[in-house]
Amino acid sequence: MQFTNEELKQKIEVLKSKLDVTVVAHFYQRDEVFEVGDITGDSLELATRTRDDDAEFVMFCGVGFMGQSVKVLSPNKRVVMPKIACCAMASMITGVQYDEAVSSMNESGITNDNILPITYINSSAEVKAKVGEMGGLVCTSSNAKKIIATALKEGKKILFVPDRCLGQNIANQMDLKSCVLGDGSDLNAVDIICFDGFCSVHQLFSLDDIAFYRKKFPEILIAVHPECDPSICNASDFVGSTSQLIKYITELDPEQKVAVGTEFNMVSRLRPKNTYILSSTKPECPTMNETTLEDVYLTLKAIDDGEPINEIHIDDKTQKWAKIALERMLAL
Ligand code: 13P
Ligand code: SF4
Repeated sequence: MQFTNEELKQKIEVLKSKLDVTVVAHFYQRDEVFEVGDITGDSLELATRTRDDDAEFVMFCGVGFMGQSVKVLSPNKRVVMPKIACCAMASMITGVQYDEAVSSMNESGITNDNILPITYINSSAEVKAKVGEMGGLVCTSSNAKKIIATALKEGKKILFVPDRCLGQNIANQMDLKSCVLGDGSDLNAVDIICFDGFCSVHQLFSLDDIAFYRKKFPEILIAVHPECDPSICNASDFVGSTSQLIKYITELDPEQKVAVGTEFNMVSRLRPKNTYILSSTKPECPTMNETTLEDVYLTLKAIDDGEPINEIHIDDKTQKWAKIALERMLAL
C-alpha cells in the first residue's frame, strides 16, 4: 500500500517516540526527509553531534561515508541508513588506488616518511584507515585550510585525497604550489599533491553560468562550495562549506541577489527570494536523493520489528585507524 508523505510523517513520528533512535539528516537530503531529522547539519556537525547523543540507534539519512564516520567515532552505537548510497566522489578512490597514489610518490623519490596524507571526509572508512595508519588525518570542507596549515608544519609533502578541487582551492588560498597526480608535474616541486577525484554535481557550475548571472544582475554575488573547479572558485565572491554558505547567504540583506553553486535541495530552502541556482542544469546529488520518506519509515519499522536493516559494520582494524584519523582532525 502506498502512503502519502503526510501519512508517512505521522507513522515516522509514532515510531520515533517509541524507539531509542535519533534521526540524523544531511543538508542535501530531500526536504521531506530533512524535516524528520532530529539532528541536521553538515558532515562534520553530524559526526560530532551524534557522538554526544546517547540514543542506542542512529538512523543516518545521507551518503555511506557519513554513516561510516558516525560508526567509526561511536563504535558502540548501532548505525542504520535508509539507503547506503555511495557518494560519487568517495567511490573514486579505493584502498588499492590509495596505495597506488603513494607508490607514484615513492617512484618520484618521496619516501613514506616524507608524506603526510590528508583525506577529505568524503572517503570510505578503508581509505581513512590507510591515511590514519600513515600518520595522516581527515578534513572537511569547513576545516580543510586549518588542517593543511597545521600539517604543513611537519615539513612533509601533503597527499590530498580524493578531491582535486578542494585540494587545489585550498592551495590557491594559501599561496601553495599544488598539482594533480598524473598531470605530468614534478611532484618534488609542489607542496600538495592531489588525487584526481571530483564531485560530478559540483562540476556542473561553469564560467558561462557566472557570466550569465553577472550580466543579468550586475550587483549579484556568486557563492560556491570548494568542491567546484578552481576556475569557478576564483571567479566567485564567496567560497565556503555547506554550513559556511548557509551562514553567508542567510545573513545577506534580503534584497541582495545571490547565485549559489552547490546542491539543489539545500539552496532551495535557504532564503525565500533573491537566491538563484548557479546552473541551468538542476544540481541534485543523485545519491543524496536516493533516500525517500518511505525508506525512512521502513528502516524505523525494521528496528521496531527487531530486525534492523542496512546496519553499518566496520572491521576492527579499519575502525581503529579510521578513528585515529578522524580524532586527529577533531583534536585540532
Ligand atoms: P559538507 O562536509 O559540507 O557537509 O559537504 C559534504 C558534501 O558532500 C558536499 O558535497
Ligand atoms: Fe558526494 Fe558530490 Fe553528492 Fe557531496 S554532492 S555527497 S561530494 S556526490
